[in-house]
Amino acid sequence: MNGLDRIRLVSLRDKVMSAEQAIELIQDGAVVGLSGFGGAGEAKTVPLVLAEHAKQHPLKITLATGASLGNKIDGRLNEAHAIVRRYPYQADPGLRKAINAGEVMYIDQHLSEMADNIRHHNLPRINVAVIAATAITEDGQIIPTGSCGNSANFVEMADHVIIEIDNTIHPILEGVHDIYVPKARPNRAPIPLIHAGDRIGTVGIQVSPEKISAIVLNDLPDTSFNMDEPDQDTLAIAKHLIQFFEAEVAAGHLPQNLGPLQSGVGSIANAVFSGFEHSNFHHLEMYSEVLQDCTFDLIDSGKMTFASGCSMTLSDSCAQRVMQNFEQYKDKIVLRPQEISNNPEIIRRLGIIAINTALEFDIYGNVNSTHVSGTKMMNGIGGSGDFTRHAHIAIFVSKSVAKGGAISSVVPMVSHTDHTEHDIDVLVTENGLADLRGLAPRERARKIIDLCAHPDYRDELNDYFERACQRGGQTPHLLEEALSWHAKFEETGNMHKTA
Ligand code: COA
Repeated sequence: MNGLDRIRLVSLRDKVMSAEQAIELIQDGAVVGLSGFGGAGEAKTVPLVLAEHAKQHPLKITLATGASLGNKIDGRLNEAHAIVRRYPYQADPGLRKAINAGEVMYIDQHLSEMADNIRHHNLPRINVAVIAATAITEDGQIIPTGSCGNSANFVEMADHVIIEIDNTIHPILEGVHDIYVPKARPNRAPIPLIHAGDRIGTVGIQVSPEKISAIVLNDLPDTSFNMDEPDQDTLAIAKHLIQFFEAEVAAGHLPQNLGPLQSGVGSIANAVFSGFEHSNFHHLEMYSEVLQDCTFDLIDSGKMTFASGCSMTLSDSCAQRVMQNFEQYKDKIVLRPQEISNNPEIIRRLGIIAINTALEFDIYGNVNSTHVSGTKMMNGIGGSGDFTRHAHIAIFVSKSVAKGGAISSVVPMVSHTDHTEHDIDVLVTENGLADLRGLAPRERARKIIDLCAHPDYRDELNDYFERACQRGGQTPHLLEEALSWHAKFEETGNMHKTA
């Protein structure tokens, strides 16, 4: 049978069964921990069979993952009304709708915290963990696939473990993972990671073979992600950032290679990182969460020497290139559990430069990453809070307008706050870069309006700010007007006062 040879602990081969048999372990009301992060490394056959089964035999589960899932797994489970509660992150259009309709309870959590929350009973115990594996080694270690996510924690905390041997994953991936699981408190030791490239754990997830209740063989590939090509705006954002970094290096504030970099998810982050390719920086390093195409482009062009992440979320063409030549990347990348890739202790210690994407930010520097018009969930905070709060330099990028100019991304007051003014150092749009370090709120407002806002909205923002200043305050506002731009958009489809 295809894939049996990947179960190298031969005694476990007796546990191979069909997905239909394996899902009998998942009872109505179960808490299910699924591998998967950023659309890579998810178990696929078991959840998709569960979704089909749930259409005929209704059941509701709490679904915990590393982060977002590919293969429309969230969408299919949601269509079958099988998800009652979901954490810590999702990015599926159908599930997003159900969340915003109040049909699914979504707990939008910092990704670094979830494993510890389960370990210390802030979140319920995992009943069944379903984990994708490249192989099971002779000594019973589970080798993850394209991501590590929360899999090690799920395996540790679950009553039952189902392994999906993923035949679509090249066995060469074995050795790229570094699994380190912190002990429970008290007496937890510091995490012994000093450099982005350090290996501190094992190549696979340790599990007692008795805990594995079922093994299923999978032939469905991970989803591929095609990024938008950089456009004029994202290229301009990249240019502002590169100029900022050059000035910081010239002033002796940053090392020649800038120190470890983190990049957020999405097309803007991917485009901005691609900007490093045409820069004068060398020996770049990443200590990040999702490794996107841009990471491998930078390694190929010789600009980047090492990238540490939690998952690889690649386009088809990039995945093909990387897997065909994996030997040349193997000593340049490592995949870690999200508890380590996003760990605040490490992020603060390494001095990471964090670059994430905002939906909107306000004139004082508060950032909204998650809620459209303050109410509707887009994706979730993901790792942006983990990195921003603890970064050496916390940067947010955004285009200055959305929806053809009907929305200004720079607003008087954000309609939802994910990252507060206390954590934000630099804001960038295609118009310019506002360095907010050491500035008081009134000084920040001037810079953000002048440098980041779209010219079409600048006068209206200045008008708001000046009238607010007349009323006084450390952070001047006109409370009755602060969210009127969002209200106006909801009412007319345009934020402009005169629309
Ligand atoms: N109000 C309403 N919609 C807005 C908006 C605003 N202020 N700003 C952007 N949008 C819309 C865009 O129009 C676009 O809509 P579309 O999909 O219908 O075209 C959508 O939001 C995505 O914006 P885009 O400009 O394409 O950016 P992106 O693909 O880079 O995604 C985020 C931006 C914020 C949604 C994404 O980065 C995210 O989910 N971040 C939170 C998680 C995170 O940061 N993780 C990384 C940590 S390592």
